[in-house]
Amino acid sequence: MDPVTENPNLQEPRLIVALDFASGDEALAFARGLDPHQCALKVGFELFVVAGPDLVDRLHALGFRVFLDLKFHDIPNTVAAACRAAARMDVWLVNLHASGGLAMMRAARDAVREVNEQTVLLAVTVLTSSDRATLEETGVQDTPDGQVMRLGRLAVEQAGLDGLVCSAREAAMLRRELGAAPRLVTPGIRLETAGGDDQKRVMTPERALEAGASAIVVGRPITRAQDPAAAMRTIAGRMQGVSPTQ
Ligand code: C5P
Repeated sequence: MDPVTENPNLQEPRLIVALDFASGDEALAFARGLDPHQCALKVGFELFVVAGPDLVDRLHALGFRVFLDLKFHDIPNTVAAACRAAARMDVWLVNLHASGGLAMMRAARDAVREVNEQTVLLAVTVLTSSDRATLEETGVQDTPDGQVMRLGRLAVEQAGLDGLVCSAREAAMLRRELGAAPRLVTPGIRLETAGGDDQKRVMTPERALEAGASAIVVGRPITRAQDPAAAMRTIAGRMQGVSPTQ
């Protein structure tokens, strides 16, 4: 294991590269240029819709751990079935929306545990694209931070999920309230915090880890870099020296 990007306590990768490509071939070609000892890979909606479980199998065959980022939200039985199927594919991380409620999360947790002790089940609390107005539209009167904490507690303390996907800006608050155990996986990472892309509330890799992230998700700063391997090295270097939270 590479001490730079691995969490020595959990032996889990601290860097997850978001494979946001429009085809399985592009994603595979890109993955072949990466080192599975330095990062895990995230497969999201678009890629999974076009390339499916076959792509996940191929990424596993290359030696990568996979985060299946499909953010399930449906009735408990349906979400449990989807999570069971993901756990059978041996994915490392899979996620759902905590706003689906306690029964849904508990059903999903039990389904994952039945088939695979290694698969980590995470909850999304409030999407970083949502603000107070978005919450109000849907009948939620609380602030985004208040709703993040409510759903974070529900997912981790009551449903027994393994952790949360959250903004790095929420990580310190969640660590303080939920302790060291839950995984906190944070997207919205940029090498510099000024400008660029459509991510508005961003943080650097080292600041995200210092704030309590267990692992960071990085997409375009690596996938769109002129030299992705060099971008990986820069990020790994900047993560070095930040000791793991758990
Ligand atoms: O390219 P970039 O680094 O912005 O990619 C971030 C990845 O993390 C994308 O795959 C995006 O879907 C995902 N994500 C996010 N913000 C969230 C949850 C997931 O950017 N709140």
